[in-house]
Amino acid sequence: MAISEFLAELDELVASATEKFETAANGDLLEAARVEFIGARSGLLRQTQQGLGRIDKSDKPAAGKRFNEVKQLIESAFETARARLEAGIATAEDEEHFDPSVPGVLSQLGHMHPITQTIEELKDIMGRLGFSVADGPEIEDEWHNFDALNIPRSHPARDPLDNFYLAVGERANDHTMLMRSQTSTVQIRVMEQSPPPVRVISLGRVYRPDTPDATHLPMFHQIEGLLIDRQVTMADLKSVLRLFASSYLGEDVHIRFRPSFFPFTEPSVEVDMSWHDNWIEMGGAGMVDPAVLTAVGYDPEEVTGFAFGLGIERLCARRHGIDDIREIYRNDVRFLHQF
Ligand code: PHE
Repeated sequence: MAISEFLAELDELVASATEKFETAANGDLLEAARVEFIGARSGLLRQTQQGLGRIDKSDKPAAGKRFNEVKQLIESAFETARARLEAGIATAEDEEHFDPSVPGVLSQLGHMHPITQTIEELKDIMGRLGFSVADGPEIEDEWHNFDALNIPRSHPARDPLDNFYLAVGERANDHTMLMRSQTSTVQIRVMEQSPPPVRVISLGRVYRPDTPDATHLPMFHQIEGLLIDRQVTMADLKSVLRLFASSYLGEDVHIRFRPSFFPFTEPSVEVDMSWHDNWIEMGGAGMVDPAVLTAVGYDPEEVTGFAFGLGIERLCARRHGIDDIREIYRNDVRFLHQF
């Protein structure tokens, strides 16, 4: 074979291999092109190499040299194409087919959990009534969860069966720490740290070993409110709760107080809310007991105040018509998407 014919064949091979590699739109097509041109057994390059044997002896060195150059050119064209695909750079052809009017694929955005949304809204409502947000730990000592709240040692509310005591302290049954059973603990923390007047809310998790059902969970959230000042009365409590309820649920909500008992308030009430003709128990409230004011160093002759503690899951459920609060924590996205 004449060397000119062989060299022409090589030039053609470089051109067509380079073009195939450059236009390969994806990894599979590029791989097919690789096999076609530089496949070890039957690639076109290999076939062309066989022509080398038929070249005149005197032309062989030149032909061999050119063959090696071409082989390198083709291999580097392949490497370039592979790097391009890996970097995701569009080919000229892709760009031609890019249609900017096709709607994009929207990525699904998450959103805040319904309880988080409720908490934010409650903070907002109470913020407008002049209440700032206070916080306290979920792992509490008995002083803040019970003693300072006028709950004596013998009180059934301290029963180990009704609380999550933690095995810390000198001996495991020392009962010195527990998962707080109410956010009333934060009342004490706030009053211990600042003199009256006080106007705070605290929102957070509380824990009780209750069997879950449609209205109970072993972990739930409360919103605690505390207002201490001169001459605060039960009427103030009712006004604030009414404003709170109608801001969150709507103007047509009714609230009702039923006599009750809490060691840390006197008098004490249960707070019910009615919305669309259905009374639901939302929590407890009352006038802060003088013993509590004394425990934190306030003078009960000087100041009075009210406190309330309401269940956030119940408020959220009432507002959205959820009839089983366990749904809130099942994490079924079909449920969560609706908020
Ligand atoms: N801490 C009480 C409870 O969890 C609710 C409450 C708060 C009652 C403040 C009175 C005053 O049941």
